Amino acid sequence: MTNLIEIKGVTHAYQTPDGPLPVLDNLNVSVPEGEFAAVVGPSGCGKSTLTRLVAGLMKPDEGEVWLHGELVKTPRKTVGMAFQNPVLLEWRTIMDNVILPLEIVAPTMPRAKRRDRAMELLTLVGLDGFEDKRPSELSGGMRQRASLCRSIVHKPDVLIMDEPFGALDAFTREDLWQTMHALRAKEPFTAVLITHDLRESVYLGDQVIVLSGRPATTQYVLDVKYPGEGGERKLEGLYTPACSDMLAALREQIQIAQGRQPEPAVQS
Ligand SMILES: Nc1ncnc2c1ncn2[C@@H]1O[C@H](COP(=O)(O)OP(=O)(O)O)[C@@H](O)[C@H]1O
Ligand SMILES: [Mg+2]
Repeated sequence: MTNLIEIKGVTHAYQTPDGPLPVLDNLNVSVPEGEFAAVVGPSGCGKSTLTRLVAGLMKPDEGEVWLHGELVKTPRKTVGMAFQNPVLLEWRTIMDNVILPLEIVAPTMPRAKRRDRAMELLTLVGLDGFEDKRPSELSGGMRQRASLCRSIVHKPDVLIMDEPFGALDAFTREDLWQTMHALRAKEPFTAVLITHDLRESVYLGDQVIVLSGRPATTQYVLDVKYPGEGGERKLEGLYTPACSDMLAALREQIQIAQGRQPEPAVQS
């Protein structure tokens, strides 16, 4: 299988008034086409920096980032991004927010076609009927749904999400996880998801990459073998022994990444 995202030996330091701050150290990440890589690691270890590198928003000091067999040197139109704060434009309707990337990437696409495309996604995430509302008229979870639609409306090769569900309550978050699977089933994309929620990483990820403390390197990679039949991921699966084992392994790795002694596993 070809790797759609290939991060090879990336090392980077920010130049600060106090001197260089090393953030990434010989980082290697491979994500096959159509797969979902969840990235977890201690706060401040360099996760958001990693997303900026993949999007081509900055260049690493050393190493290479490849997307679709092309070396990334400049910002990429074929990357979609979603963040913790959906940053929807209040003076535009939900519809007009979602079609924004199409106005940039496909300026000649007729308006009716843009709206059809946006409507298809809004329906898929349960927002049909809300297309003419303003962002402030929607709940946080609904805004995040709209933001997800906007991030994939132009069919990007890669979707990068930096803690997109971090600000939502637990129930809304679980709804959004299921929406992510529904979106993926309808329109396959390759994704990097930064999260600090280990359950989320296991539920959504095909692999979970644990980064070490700063400067971050790839400390551990878990291949997720989600329990259940036919590849469908059910939320209940998270409460099976197979998932508990994966979560315990990840928790231990996070403790190591934080420089703490792993705590003995507690039976739940
Ligand atoms: N533009 C910047 N200039 C200087 N330091 C930065 C810059 N961006 C991030 N940092 C620092 O680099 C480290 C890693 O940041 P970041 O990638 O945002 O970590 P994370 O997303 O894992 O919390 C942090 O210590 C942060 O303060
Ligand atoms: Mg961050």
